[in-house]
Parts: sequence; C-alpha cells; structure tokens
Amino acid sequence: MRVQIKSKQEIEYIRRAGRILAECHQEVAKWIKPGVSTLEIDEKVEKYLKEAGASPEQKGYKGYPFATCASVNDVVCHGFPSEKPLQAGDIVTIDIVVNKNGWLADSGWTYAVERPGPAAARLMKNAKDALYDGISMAKVGNTIGDIGYVIEQRALAGGYGLVKPLVGHGIGRQIHEPPEVPSFGIRGRGRKLIEGMVITIEPVFTMGPSGAVYWGDDGWTISSADGSVGVQFEHTIAITNKGPYILTE
Ligand code: MF3
Ligand code: CO
Repeated sequence: MRVQIKSKQEIEYIRRAGRILAECHQEVAKWIKPGVSTLEIDEKVEKYLKEAGASPEQKGYKGYPFATCASVNDVVCHGFPSEKPLQAGDIVTIDIVVNKNGWLADSGWTYAVERPGPAAARLMKNAKDALYDGISMAKVGNTIGDIGYVIEQRALAGGYGLVKPLVGHGIGRQIHEPPEVPSFGIRGRGRKLIEGMVITIEPVFTMGPSGAVYWGDDGWTISSADGSVGVQFEHTIAITNKGPYILTE
C-alpha cells in the first residue's frame, strides 16, 4: 500500500471521528477511579461510541478482542482490559481507535488513578511534551526523521527508556497505513511530509532507561522488561499547508 493522501474533505471526515474520540477520552478521564476495572471502562467506551454513531475499530482488528487497549503500570501497550480493580497510584493507558462512517482516528492517553507519584508525574509530563515536540515537526517539507529525532531527544534528556518497536503510522480508512512514524530518527532523513498525509505520533516511554519490552503469551500485551512503568501519548495529525492539524484534540 502507498501513502494515502487525503483531501480536505477526507481530513474533515477523520476529524469527525477524532472529535468523538477526544470527547470520549474526556469521559474516560472521569471514569478512571480506584475500584473501577479497565473492563468496565472498555464497556463504557464501547457504549459511548455507539451512542455517538461510531464504533471501536480495534475490536476484531487482527483478532483483537476488546474495544480499547488498557495498559496498567508495567504493561506499556496493547494490554487487555481486565476485571482487576484499579488502585490509587496506578498508571493506565487507554488506547482507542474510532470509526465514524468508515474514517478512523487513533488516540491513546495515559492517566493516573487519583494522583501519580512524583516520578510518574514527571515521566508523564516528559512523554506528553515529546508528543507535542513531535507534532510541532509535522510540517510540509520536514521529514519523518525530524519527528522521531525530537521525541528521542526528549527521552534521552529525561533519562527515560524509549520503546522503539512501537511506531506511529498513517491512518485513514485503515488503522495502520504507511508510512511508519518511529519515535526516533535522524534529522532530515526519511520520507518527506507532504500536504494531505494523516499520521499518528505515539511515543511510548518507560521509567527505566532501557526501553526494552517483551510480548505476553496472549500475543498482544507488551510489558517493560525491567518492570518499570510505561506511558504513551498519541494523537492523529494531518499535515496541512497551515501546519500540523491535531484531529484528536
Ligand atoms: N492504537 C493502536 C496502535 O496505534 C492499535 C493497536 S491494534 C489493537 O497501534 F488491535 F491492539 F488494538
Ligand atoms: Co496508533
């Protein structure tokens, strides 16, 4: 598959999915509390999307069984929602892909249950800043490498691990379209960004400096090798001649 260039109209369709997704995340932020399980959150998300005339694209994607990915503490990504109640201080990433009329938007976000400890708060702030650093580079004439470069610098500066196997991607009518958008890179290298590309930027940082991960027996769950907390912040962005257009905010 080639990079799919989207028209202004198509970008607005993705924006509609993204707006529902952003509003859903605002609800998720309120639902996350001690004693609530990520399976309950998953069910609420599915219901919320249905009522918005949308659907959770992850459910059934390559056999993935849930509406959301719910990754708690040392699970850094693609965790299964579970019945285990959340506890104060847990760090949980909820990743959602919304399908509205066949157009998709993707956004994962990390939340603390009640309040994060100071170290977790710092990790979350750095990863979120890294996302926005990356977004600021998502401009016509820059390259994929420019995005990855600034994200990696942020991880290095903070002494955090960068989970390299998890990359951003093109998105539109399918969850994963080309190009890949790594959270590391070399300035000026990689594909040039052109008007009409729609991509995700989704850095995953771990508290420990290695960023090494392993896959669980379920074939999905990705955990940090050192057992440290992982966080992820992801937006879907259109490359426009007026600069980056965040579609999931
Ligand atoms: N939102 C995830 C990503 O950016 C999609 C994971 S696929 C799933 O890669 F099946 F695990 F949901
Ligand atoms: Co994604």
